[in-house]
Formats: sequence, structure tokens, C-alpha cells
Amino acid sequence: MAGITIKSKREIDLMRDAGKLLRDVHLRLGEEIAPGITTLDLDKLGEELIRKTDSIPSFLNYEGYPASVCVSINDEVVHGIPTKDRIIQDGDIVSLDIGLIHNGWQSDAARTHAVGNVSEEALALIKVTEESFFEGIKFAVAGNHLHDISNAIGNYCIDRGYGVVYDLVGHGIGREMHEPPQVPNFPQKRRGVLLCAGMTLAIEPMINIGRGDVKFMNDGWTCKTEDGSLSAHYENTILITDGEPEILSL
Ligand code: MF3
Ligand code: CO
Repeated sequence: MAGITIKSKREIDLMRDAGKLLRDVHLRLGEEIAPGITTLDLDKLGEELIRKTDSIPSFLNYEGYPASVCVSINDEVVHGIPTKDRIIQDGDIVSLDIGLIHNGWQSDAARTHAVGNVSEEALALIKVTEESFFEGIKFAVAGNHLHDISNAIGNYCIDRGYGVVYDLVGHGIGREMHEPPQVPNFPQKRRGVLLCAGMTLAIEPMINIGRGDVKFMNDGWTCKTEDGSLSAHYENTILITDGEPEILSL
């Protein structure tokens, strides 16, 4: 892949369409999460909702990933593979990461849901993870540097005692799901690339109650916290402008 792509007005309109469709898939799927539903049920429903909008699930078969929705529960950080035996329980925190392609343009977003009676500390984790995204995008303005976003996200969480996952990062997005630049969620020494109007980024803090270290399971995908602590994920596809960033998938 070449350098960072700057999207035209027309391309931005198409990415906006994709983002709104993805937002709606998240809203619908979020309503279905309840004790008793399996992670495969969520995947199948997610795929159906995506296809109904004339979109393609971007995760399905991506580097061999076998599903349309990543479902990651409790100490699973990201990329949990849906199965028919995995049943959502009261008290779980469940992150859904979903991507779709509409008219050739990608959108990528994740939400973490609390199911039933969830501990105060788990609710606080979900809240801080979301807040760190919004803290980060305060700096997502043309003329700033990429790592202004990374520093804001990382420091917001570290200051509150959370572990920031440093083995996985956000990314540019457009015709491809993963385009340059990489978007770290933790403080950086270098300032990163200059942000320009028309850049589109998927910003996705992954935050743990314990340490930021993660491990990867033998299924080749599932990423869990090393220390077994709970983890949350929040992601949106955003557009850099000369003023406020636009959140395309919200
Ligand atoms: N949001 C994730 C990412 O940006 C989703 C990719 S998972 C995969 O990398 F299943 F597509 F691989
Ligand atoms: Co992503």
C-alpha cells in the first residue's frame, strides 16, 4: 500500500454513507445482546444486517478470519471468534467489532456492552475507554500531528490507572480496511505524521483494568489480557477536517 490517502469530497460522502450503515448495524446488534444469546447468533445476525444494506462484511475471510463480527468477552481484548457454544452470561462485558464495505468504501467500529448486572469496575472501564477516544479526537485536527491523538488517549487511561494495549493499533481506512498510518493508543516519543483534511482514520483504544500486556490464543486470533483482567474496546472511523473531526460511524 502506498502512502496516506486523502479523500475527495465525493469519497468522503461515500465513507459517510458506509459509516452510518455501520452505526445502525451496531445499534441493532447492541439491542440483541442479552444472557443466553451465543456469539455465533450475534455474528449471523450481524452478517445479515450488513448484507441487507447492500454491504459486504469486511472481516469475513480477512486474512482467514472466519466471521463477520469479532465478539470479545471479559478478558478477551479483540478478535474473539464467534462459536455456537459460547453463551453470553449475565455480568459479562462484550465487545463487538464490525466492519463493512459499501460501494467500495470501508467503515470500522467497535462498542463494548455491559450485559445485565455488571460490576462497578467493569462499567468504569467501559466508560474510560469511550472517554479516551473522545479525548483523543480533540486533537484530530489538521495541523496537529498523529501522535497528539495517541498521547491524549494513552495518558487519559494511564493517569486513571488503566493498562493500555500496545501490541495492537488503529489505522488509516478508505478503500482498504487497513491503510497507513498506524494509530497507536499509547504515548509516543515521536510526533507522527502531520494531520491533513481528508485523512480518514479508525481510532480504537483497547484498555485493560490491569496491565496492558496481551497474549494470543492458539486459534490464531483471540487476543486476551495477559493478567486475566477485563478489557474494553471502542472504535470509530473518523474524518480529519480543518476544524472539528467528523465521526463517520456514530
Ligand atoms: N477493527 C479490527 C482492526 O481494525 C478488525 C479486524 S479483525 C479481522 O484490525 F477479523 F478482520 F481480522
Ligand atoms: Co479497526
